[in-house]
Amino acid sequence: LASIEVDVSAIEPGQSMTAKWRGKPVTIRNRTEQEIEAAKAVPLSDLIDTASRNANLPDGSEATDANRAVDGKENLIVMVSVCTHLGCIPLGQQGDFGGWFCPCHGSHYDTAGRIRKGPAPENLHIPVYSFVSDTRIKIG
Ligand code: FES
Repeated sequence: LASIEVDVSAIEPGQSMTAKWRGKPVTIRNRTEQEIEAAKAVPLSDLIDTASRNANLPDGSEATDANRAVDGKENLIVMVSVCTHLGCIPLGQQGDFGGWFCPCHGSHYDTAGRIRKGPAPENLHIPVYSFVSDTRIKIG
């Protein structure tokens, strides 16, 4: 399917769900306040990859937390769950930065899905998506 719609109303803070889009897993995570604050507090100079990797933004946009989420919906973060190293599926709510951890070769992503430690070269990619209502997201 070129695009899918996902009902995100049942995702509690601290929880996530995964949908399948174009053969890839896309994770939607409802971040807690602490997870958002932790991501916002990271200076760009601490990042391995400073590009937003957000298909909804122009090339060259930076990997701030604001550029990894949608304004007013900062809690709901949407990402392709494919490690940017060699394509394993990272595990959510794990790793040194509380975001995602890829067990294949030890890549740690933060709560904005940005690579912070390990061999992965890029932040987790954010697909084209939009909110079609408060509780529904269209991906693609
Ligand atoms: Fe994820 Fe290598 S595929 S760390």
